[in-house]
Amino acid sequence: MNITKYTFQKHGDDRGQLVAIEEGKDIPFDIKRVYYMYDTGKGVRRGFHAHKKLEQILICVHGNCKIMLDDGHEQKVVLLDSPYEGLYVPNSIWREMFDFSADAVLLVLASDIYQESDYIRDYQEFIKYLGK
Ligand code: TYD
Repeated sequence: MNITKYTFQKHGDDRGQLVAIEEGKDIPFDIKRVYYMYDTGKGVRRGFHAHKKLEQILICVHGNCKIMLDDGHEQKVVLLDSPYEGLYVPNSIWREMFDFSADAVLLVLASDIYQESDYIRDYQEFIKYLGK
């Protein structure tokens, strides 16, 4: 499984850092939705789903967390600990998020609005879906 991590340009000066992300330039899809997770409890693992069509970029803009990606053949764990790095998660990938630091803010840029019909929330169903 190829893991794509984007390193975004930092516009830093003596005031601090600024990162800008534009659709069609810095990431491979148009952004239709942004959401973020914070105050994630110690030991919490979440996600446990794949998407049929949705593409996402995950950015831990503060703190750190780990992302497990599974394409049905292999699993890879990616540490997100930099506010200027984005993990690309294409469709048809099972993902779980865990090991959130207490201060972690996980920002997600998504290619579409929230649609429950795009979710596969059962792992066996995910494997079946890949075989189709
Ligand atoms: P959930 O799918 O359980 O989060 P995850 O699988 O990433 O851990 O989402 C938690 C709740 O938030 C659930 O009630 C659905 C709602 N939700 C929205 O309303 N819009 C969204 O864009 C997302 C991602 C979730």
